[in-house]
Amino acid sequence: MERNKILEVIDVSYSKNDVEILKNINFEVLSGEFVGIIGPNGAGKTTLAKIIVGEIRDYIGKVYVKGRIGYVPQIKDINRDMPVLVKEFASMGLYGKKGFLRFFTRQDWKEVEKKLELVGILSLKDRPVSKLSGGELQRLMLARALLYEPDILLLDEPEAGVDQMGKARFYELIDTMRENENLTVILISHDIGMVFQKCEKIMCLNKTLHCQAPRERISPEDLRKIFSEDFDIWIRGQKHYEREHEH
Ligand SMILES: Nc1ncnc2c1ncn2[C@@H]1O[C@H](COP(=O)(O)OP(=O)(O)OP(=O)(O)O)[C@@H](O)[C@H]1O
Ligand SMILES: [Mg+2]
Repeated sequence: MERNKILEVIDVSYSKNDVEILKNINFEVLSGEFVGIIGPNGAGKTTLAKIIVGEIRDYIGKVYVKGRIGYVPQIKDINRDMPVLVKEFASMGLYGKKGFLRFFTRQDWKEVEKKLELVGILSLKDRPVSKLSGGELQRLMLARALLYEPDILLLDEPEAGVDQMGKARFYELIDTMRENENLTVILISHDIGMVFQKCEKIMCLNKTLHCQAPRERISPEDLRKIFSEDFDIWIRGQKHYEREHEH
């Protein structure tokens, strides 16, 4: 598989109301890579995602993207008070390809239904978006992003609110897509276990990029640096759990 540079972030900094949110961020992503971004609450992960997709424009530095980004925003950022049906919302993913002012063909609607089926919410196609549960909405966002036929899939905590079966299905789907297409995936997640299992490269973010390396080169020290003492508590909790469940 050929691996070209598909995303380049050069010395990006971002402040809001004189508060520094991101500082001197530098990294690149190659096509076909599966990259994980981890960091504590407020680390700037969502802000970085919004800069990459162009939702935030008043940053300092440069961002080069070669290709289309399918963006699945963090669920808390989504205004779900929309007077549209699930199938209509998903079909917005086709706008990028076909333009706004165009009637959808039967084939288009078939595509929409196929993607809704893929993420497991086809039976909800005629339901208003405002009536969906958190996990259902998350799946809908993924269906919309997939309809856009992205080169890069940028996922901001896609598993939040999704049940265990949905999660397994979700990651299976992404694995399949990566096998079949030269899809690049950037995954922001608090599920560190999943990130270490799935992502080839991991970036540890907390205002600055504390480390970026292949997963086997990320040490507990690196994680401690970004998660501070919370991470020690977490490790102690894990050890305690293991001890308690030894027998
Ligand atoms: N519009 C804004 N105005 C002021 N501060 C903001 C704004 N948006 C984000 N911030 C602040 O920037 C910091 C980074 O926020 P961001 O949402 O990027 O964090 P995050 O890493 O995605 O966190 P989480 O894991 O909770 O999703 C936070 O301290 C947040 O309060
Ligand atoms: Mg966030």
